[in-house]
Amino acid sequence: MTGQTAPAQPGAQISVDVPAKINPHLGVGDPRADGYHALSTVYQAISLHDTVTAERRGEPGIEITISGEGAATLPTGEANLAHKAAKLVALYAGIEPDVKLHLNKRIPVAGGLAGGSADAAGALIACARLWEVEIGDAELERLAAGLGSDVPFCLKGGTAIGSGRGEQLTPVTAKGTWHWVVATTDTQISTPECYKEVDRLREDGIGRYSSDVDPLVKAFESGASADDLARLLINDMEAAAVSLRPQLASLMHGGLEEGALAAHVSGSGPTVLFLATDVKHAVALARRIRMRGGAKSVHLAHGPVSGPAA
Ligand code: C5P
Repeated sequence: MTGQTAPAQPGAQISVDVPAKINPHLGVGDPRADGYHALSTVYQAISLHDTVTAERRGEPGIEITISGEGAATLPTGEANLAHKAAKLVALYAGIEPDVKLHLNKRIPVAGGLAGGSADAAGALIACARLWEVEIGDAELERLAAGLGSDVPFCLKGGTAIGSGRGEQLTPVTAKGTWHWVVATTDTQISTPECYKEVDRLREDGIGRYSSDVDPLVKAFESGASADDLARLLINDMEAAAVSLRPQLASLMHGGLEEGALAAHVSGSGPTVLFLATDVKHAVALARRIRMRGGAKSVHLAHGPVSGPAA
């Protein structure tokens, strides 16, 4: 089949909604021999999502267009993870890629919410459907892991424990819905930069590996209250993110003053998540955080939500 394009289906369009992820527990271990850090994390998909749409372009090639907040800042060529995802599916199927991908972004860009990984997961699924590629779950997960540590979770959604470098998943059945205010900032933190800062702080004796996810997993499984959840949120990258961008500390502090149950840096930041008691509290909290200033944008979200392949 190499060199062939998949059978043409003029006009066919596949759309996939892929949610953002948060890490209510993010334990970061030492760097491994391959440079990645061992992770012990709990992922949860939340109700902010990007939409990936794939359609045939009628000639070989991968074309990407992007709309939504922050679209102009993103690459449309091979540097885009969605482009790499489309190429991987074509390679797997032994066909020439022939696709126009459109990414409609609602997940804040470069925010520690896995927006790029979500688009890659969406592109894997959309291209496999568009080109009618028969691919099993295990193989799709393998391709996803090759694209990035968060991409396998973005395929699945829901709640899951992540181990290895984050790509090995164990699903968790969470009983309940938790409400968040998601505050983005106008700075950026690159993921590798944040991991390096974790290492640097550890050399100075600051921070340790929070490897035990059990308390948080049990809280999700038993439908714990937001108050209980607030006490269990952990992010080993938080000190590093605040060290790199000290203004995060005042955003977090401000949200707590406005009544958030907890302030939690999302992944490697710089987005800050504020936990609310319920949806009514989240709406009021979001308004107060907006009025206070200091955040670039403020969104409401709840989780867990299902992923695209659920
Ligand atoms: O896996 P992904 O490509 O998303 O990772 C981006 C970068 O983040 C890696 O190149 C690495 O520097 C860092 N990383 C890490 N340990 C992990 C995941 C990511 O050091 N578990």
